[in-house]
Parts: sequence; structure tokens; C-alpha cells
Amino acid sequence: MGIGFELVKSVEEWLIGNGAHYTFLATEKNNVASTNLFTSKCNYMNFTSLVIFVQPASLPVRGLSQDIKIEKLQADQAIYLYNNKFRSKDMFPTDVDAILKEKLSIGTWVSYFKEEEWISLHNNEDIVTKTPSSWAMFSIWNSCDAYKLHIRKSDHRPFRFFHATLSHARDKIFPCLKLPVCHHSLQKPFGFLFLFGLYGEGERIQELMKSIWSFASRLAENVKDCRVIISELGVSDPLIEHVPRESSMSFINDLWYLKKVNGIADDSEESVVLGQVIGNVFVDPRDF
Ligand SMILES: CC(C)(COP(=O)(O)OP(=O)(O)OC[C@H]1O[C@@H](n2cnc3c(N)ncnc32)[C@H](O)[C@@H]1OP(=O)(O)O)[C@@H](O)C(=O)NCCC(=O)NCCS
Repeated sequence: MGIGFELVKSVEEWLIGNGAHYTFLATEKNNVASTNLFTSKCNYMNFTSLVIFVQPASLPVRGLSQDIKIEKLQADQAIYLYNNKFRSKDMFPTDVDAILKEKLSIGTWVSYFKEEEWISLHNNEDIVTKTPSSWAMFSIWNSCDAYKLHIRKSDHRPFRFFHATLSHARDKIFPCLKLPVCHHSLQKPFGFLFLFGLYGEGERIQELMKSIWSFASRLAENVKDCRVIISELGVSDPLIEHVPRESSMSFINDLWYLKKVNGIADDSEESVVLGQVIGNVFVDPRDF
């Protein structure tokens, strides 16, 4: 009793001691104990709602059209596009270049129909891009090389936030992976690829989104111990309704909480308006 509260307090003290102005927390929406702990006991505000999508890597999403081209971008092109296209997001990391240059970042790709053209030219310091009428972009983070998940049927010890969350999805994930729940086969550690930085435009975005999941599944076949593809989108991200709803896919409602802890005046430019719920965020793969 009281351990959860003491843990949150000491993490906050450590963060404040290291210069944090805000602290974030995340939990699954129907985890009553932790939502009470964060809101009632520790005064966190509801910041944003997201959905985590979990798809077994062994079951590629059907319907990849032969008419679709998926092309890898150079890092500078990807950074340019993210900085230009993601300004409309409610929340976007200022160091997207650092994310894309991380070792775990496998790459950024664009998906579009072969009948159209993707034109990208370097003009001195600038990159001039003419995008097709429908196109999508995405990046992939190889979480398998950072840590492995280890789900046990009767063991709820939290590993990271994500482990506790995924444990709740376990009963759906086992059948997806074609493993009986009672077999405990996922006791063997396994990893996942994280799809992030999803963005798309145009009328045919639905087909392009399918192509992205299918591409990621195929990529996962060549990554050791990779069993799952995971992505996360804010509830008001326009792409959320275009995520392919395969029967093998699990959905987890995720809540992020925020608290101002130190040093920023309410009227400063850096101040986040607490209580204003946002819904279109760039999920930073380093936090997942
Ligand atoms: C969430 C968790 C960390 C809480 O730890 P805990 O030591 O039980 O919590 P505390 O005793 O410090 O309780 C602090 C507050 O949390 C809330 N709380 C804790 N357990 C609760 C429960 N079963 N139901 C409702 N609220 C609960 C209450 O607001 C409580 O305050 P109160 O005692 O004044 O009513 C713990 O239940 C846990 O480890 N759960 C499984 C893993 C998990 O879900 N981790 C969080 C992932 S984000």
C-alpha cells in the first residue's frame, strides 16, 4: 500500500532535479488503479488520448496493390518533409532529425501509386518536393534491438509502461500469433517494429495505409525475434480511420497525462495550456 504513490513522487523528484518543466505519464484507459493514482492522488491532467495498434508480424495485411510504389527517402528528405508536414500537429518533437539519425531508426519511406511521380530536387540548401495526388509517409523503429517483451500469463510485473499495457492485450495477441494462450509460448522474449511518423494525403490514402502495414510485416520477417508490428496514433489524427482494421489487429486505448512541475510561467511561450486536451500528436519512438 502506498508504493505506487511513493514511486511516482520519487520519479517526479528525480525529473525536477534534472531540470524537467513538465512530467508525462501514460496508461491504458481502463487501468482504474493507475488513472486514479495519476489524477486523484498526483494531480495529473488528462493531456491526450491515443490508440495503440498491435498487429502480428506473421500475418501481413492483405491487399497490397501491385500499383503501389514504396520508396526509401534519404535522411535529409525525410527531415525536410517531417518539418514541413507535421507543423499542423498538436505536438511534434523539435529534434526529429535526431530521431531519424538514431541507430534504431531503420528508415523513412513514401508510398504512392506508380502511375504518378514523386519528384524531389535539391535546390541549393532547399529540397523541392512535388508530391503525388495521394501519398503517405512513415518511419520504422527497430525496438527489437532496444529491448524484448516478455509476457507471462500469471505475471503482471511491469517492465515498462508498455509491458503492462501489452499484458492486457495478451489474450488477443496469443490467438493472433496462432499460439494457444495456455501454452505460454510468448514466455520467450520477442520484439516488435514500431511504425511512427505516419502521414498521408489524398483520396486513395486507405490503400496506401494498407501498403504500409503490409510492407512493415514483410520487413519484420527479416528482423530477428520480431513478432509484432505496433503503431500509435492520436484520436484526432486524420489517418486513424484509415488504419487497416484486420481481424488480427488489437487496439489499446492509451491515455497520456501531464503535470507542470517547475520553472515555466503560465504566460510564457513554452507554457502548455493545461486542461486543453489535444489529439493529433507525433508519437516519439524513443518514449515507447
Ligand atoms: C497502479 C499501481 C502502480 C498502483 O500502486 P499502489 O501501490 O497500489 O498504489 P497506492 O497504494 O500508492 O495508491 C495510490 C492511489 O492509487 C489509486 N489506486 C490504487 N489502487 C487502486 C485500485 N485498486 N482501485 C482504484 N484506485 C486505486 C488510489 O487513488 C490510491 O489513493 P488512495 O489510497 O488515497 O485511495 C499498481 O496497482 C500496479 O502496479 N498495477 C499493475 C501495473 C500497472 O498497471 N502499472 C501502471 C502502468 S501505467
